[in-house]
Amino acid sequence: MTDPILIDIPEELSTDRTVVRRYRPGDGVGVFEAVDESREHILPWMPWGPGHQTTDDSEKLVRTWNGKWALREDMSFGMFDKQTGEYLGGTGLHRIDWNLRSFEIGYWIRKSAAGKGHVTDSVKLLTDLAFSKLQANRVFIRCAVENVKSCAVAKRAGFTLEGTIRNSIKDADGRLVDLMMFSLIPEEWESMRVV
Ligand SMILES: CC(C)(COP(=O)(O)OP(=O)(O)OC[C@H]1O[C@@H](n2cnc3c(N)ncnc32)[C@H](O)[C@@H]1OP(=O)(O)O)[C@@H](O)C(=O)NCCC(=O)NCCS
Repeated sequence: MTDPILIDIPEELSTDRTVVRRYRPGDGVGVFEAVDESREHILPWMPWGPGHQTTDDSEKLVRTWNGKWALREDMSFGMFDKQTGEYLGGTGLHRIDWNLRSFEIGYWIRKSAAGKGHVTDSVKLLTDLAFSKLQANRVFIRCAVENVKSCAVAKRAGFTLEGTIRNSIKDADGRLVDLMMFSLIPEEWESMRVV
């Protein structure tokens, strides 16, 4: 198996209206603005929100994500509007198991950009990246059963529901949450491409 650090991974991918790219120093300002306008929208599902109290907090995270990307430990991508360049939210390949070639896709979008399909675009781009460039055997998405919008993204992107993992995580209030597990394997991805 090629050492992951030697794989040349494209740092920017796009559709006609959505760009996903590796974070760069300086992205913290946009990340902070997006989190700050979206706290109520993202907090129930993404407990890291309170960690962004200043632009420096966000910039520190951006630089940390950039470093982990270089080491192939975790690949966070920023999501941007292709026309305006505005920062829209975050996505990425997480919980990477290079031996199994398994990747989790995560996502969030700022409140003002929700409901336009940018997240579904981003998930499709990262799914293609995982299967076409990283020899993925498994790409998965987990979402809280009550997080209807998140589960809808997985379905819209063509992922298969494997089942519900009960009492899988604790939410921001310490409440146990059931997660739906969606995944794609190479054979499914290939058949989606020829349709
Ligand atoms: C989950 C979350 C990322 C979904 O965002 P979203 O904007 O609904 O997802 P998309 O960008 O794919 O947009 C889909 C919506 O745009 C509409 N849409 C418009 N044009 C579209 C297009 N070209 N392609 C796809 N959808 C389009 C869809 O019909 C859908 O609308 P609906 O919600 O009224 O059914 C968002 O709700 C969020 O950030 N939540 C908080 C954080 C979170 O829960 N993260 C996930 C943790 S598992």
